[in-house]
Amino acid sequence: METLLEIIGLSISYQTKKQEIKAIDNISFTVKKGEFVAIIGRSGCGKTSILSAISNLIPYIGKIKFYNDKGLSTNRPQIGYMLQRDELFPWLTIRQNACLPLKIKNNYTKEKIEYVDNLLEKYGLSAFKNSYPNQLSGGMRQRAALIRTLAISPSLLLLDEPFSALDSQTRISVCDDVYNIIKKENKTAILVTHDISEAISVADKIIVLTERPANILSMHEINLNKELSPLKRREEKGFASLFETLWGELHK
Ligand SMILES: Nc1ncnc2c1ncn2[C@@H]1O[C@H](COP(=O)(O)OP(=O)(O)OP(=O)(O)O)[C@@H](O)[C@H]1O
Ligand SMILES: [Mg+2]
Repeated sequence: METLLEIIGLSISYQTKKQEIKAIDNISFTVKKGEFVAIIGRSGCGKTSILSAISNLIPYIGKIKFYNDKGLSTNRPQIGYMLQRDELFPWLTIRQNACLPLKIKNNYTKEKIEYVDNLLEKYGLSAFKNSYPNQLSGGMRQRAALIRTLAISPSLLLLDEPFSALDSQTRISVCDDVYNIIKKENKTAILVTHDISEAISVADKIIVLTERPANILSMHEINLNKELSPLKRREEKGFASLFETLWGELHK
C-alpha cells in the first residue's frame, strides 16, 4: 500500500493567558492509502489536537506530508472531518444537510448532487431525504452526517469519537454501518476513540497514546480477518487478548 500521510515529529502546544499547555510531544506515524488507523488514549491526552493539526486548523511544530499518485503533494487533499455530535442543522432536511458542503465549497453541481443522492439511496436514507434530523434515529443521523462528510469526495476521513453520543448497542451497529460505507467508498480513515473494543474491531493499525503531553506508547498492527464486519471481528480469536494488552497499556 502506498503512503497517503506522513507525520514527522509533531508537537502541539496551546498558549493560554496563564501558561503553555503541551498537548502533543514529538509524534511520528504514517497512514497508508486505504488504511483504517485508530488512535486511542485517555481523555484529554491530545487526540483531537492531532486531527486538528492534520486539518491545519491549529498551529503545530513538525511535518505533516501528504502524498498522491505522483508522490509528495504540495497541497493538502480534501479532508472530511466527522465530529462527536452529528452537527446536522435541525432546520435543513437530510438532503439539504448532506449537500451543504457542496454549497459551502461552491461546488453545487448536478454531478455532485447526484453523488450525494446516490449515497443516500445506497445507504438506506432515500426515504428520509426530505425529513428533518429530529425525525431520524441517532444511528440514521450519524449515517447522514457521514454522507455529508463524503459529499466533497475527501481522500482522507478524520473521525473524532463519532459514535460517542449513541447508546452502546446502537453504537456497535452504527459502527458496522459506517465502517462498511468507508470501505465500500474506498476511503482512508483515522478514527479517534477511547473505546478499545471499537478500535480493535475496525482498525488495521492502532496507535496508543500516553497521557498528556502525548507521545506514542505503542503501535499495533491488527491481524484479525478483514473480511469480517467489525461486529463479527469481536468474536475472533485474538480479540480478547488484544483487548487485554491495550487495556493494560492504557491503565499503567
Ligand atoms: N484551544 C485550547 N486552548 C487551550 N488548551 C487546549 C485547547 N484545546 C485543547 N487544549 C488542551 O490540550 C489537551 C489535549 O486536548 P484534546 O482535545 O486534544 O484531547 P482529547 O484527547 O481529544 O480529549 P477527549 O478524549 O476528552 O476528547 C487538553 O489538556 C486540553 O485542555
Ligand atoms: Mg477529543
